[in-house]
Amino acid sequence: MKAVGVTRDGDEPELLDIERPEPDSGEALVRTLRVGVDGTDHEVIAGAHGGYPEGEDYMVLGHEAVGVVEDPNGTGLDEGQVVVPTVRRKPDGETNEYFRRGEPDMAPEGEYVERGIVGGHGYMAEYFTSPADFLVPIPDSLAEYGLFVEPISITEKANEHAFGTREPFEWRPESACVLGNGSLGLLTLWMLDQEFDRTYCVGRRDRPDPTIDIIEEIGGTYVDSRETPVDELPEAEESMDYIYEATGFAPHCLQTVHALAPNGVGALLGIPEPWDFEIDGGSLHNELVLHNKCLVGTVNSHIVHFEYAVDTLASMPEWLLDEVITTVATPDDVAPAFEDGDDQIKAVVEFDSL
Ligand code: NAP
Ligand code: BGC
Ligand code: ZN
Repeated sequence: MKAVGVTRDGDEPELLDIERPEPDSGEALVRTLRVGVDGTDHEVIAGAHGGYPEGEDYMVLGHEAVGVVEDPNGTGLDEGQVVVPTVRRKPDGETNEYFRRGEPDMAPEGEYVERGIVGGHGYMAEYFTSPADFLVPIPDSLAEYGLFVEPISITEKANEHAFGTREPFEWRPESACVLGNGSLGLLTLWMLDQEFDRTYCVGRRDRPDPTIDIIEEIGGTYVDSRETPVDELPEAEESMDYIYEATGFAPHCLQTVHALAPNGVGALLGIPEPWDFEIDGGSLHNELVLHNKCLVGTVNSHIVHFEYAVDTLASMPEWLLDEVITTVATPDDVAPAFEDGDDQIKAVVEFDSL
């Protein structure tokens, strides 16, 4: 069958010819419809994050997938059911407390593989198998946009964890700012705009730019970090009750603390490589303490977040989803899906349709 992956010898994703997988007991066979590409895939291709499955000289890419159950294999799923797979799996032949508790998203490195990212083949292939427990059913009507469930679930978890830190007191947030105008940032901006009075999104682009158009269509204010560094947001715009970092630009982690309003919270999502820079650690420490601020790192998501994400996706306007998808490529001509210019927001590789 056709698959798209990277090999230890190559430097670009390529079409591979691999064997169609057979489902083990407890697993279903899924026919892939579409798979999205995000910033993490680019980090994986560049060798900056993740790694090959043990003993393999290639890795199938893709962790944002939607497919149709081809063979339920006695799992209780229905043939023809549209499903979205979660990303984390137990390391081969092992289990651990995080999986037993149903919280693999909280497992430390080494205690999981991530399909298409860390040590496991992804979903960018005509078929894939998965334990049925890690397949989330979605309505047929969402099949076309089902690849958004995984990234939306990332924000469902991040918001749950960030807002959870503010639960012990009466928090009345009004302003939220997303750092980053990639696909994760834009989907998140829409989600936050439903809940906050005022929203902002920080990028580093000149107009005209398709992401700035989307920010403004959502109702957010675009901020250019080249003119207004994140720690100057309070003077240029306002202090933010919530900041969601989705750039991977490491200085944003610390600039976020200064940009937060008293009692505010920042969620860090980006995955930078090592990066040395100077900071005033004293002021940072002081700000966090004297203003009850919080920074929370968050990664991955699990079933409950996928389930919330299905509802969120159903409520998202179609114009947003259509404008965010900038390329639909085929496995036979996959290069356009991995081009990374300013016109590209979310590329999709399409294997089949309902
Ligand atoms: P992406 O498409 O690469 O988007 C990143 C965006 O940040 C780009 O639009 C980039 O702008 C912008 N940016 C970078 N540096 C900036 C700066 N200094 N000022 C303003 N904007 C800046 O990636 P994505 O898919 O949206 O994901 C965002 C990050 O979150 C990535 O690091 C990804 O690995 C990570 N991520 C983490 C999780 C998790 O579970 N924690 C899940 C998904 C993604 P330009 O395009 O103009 O350069
Ligand atoms: C994926 C997550 C994954 C994270 C770290 C993200 O792009 O959406 O599922 O945990 O990368 O590898
Ligand atoms: Zn991702």
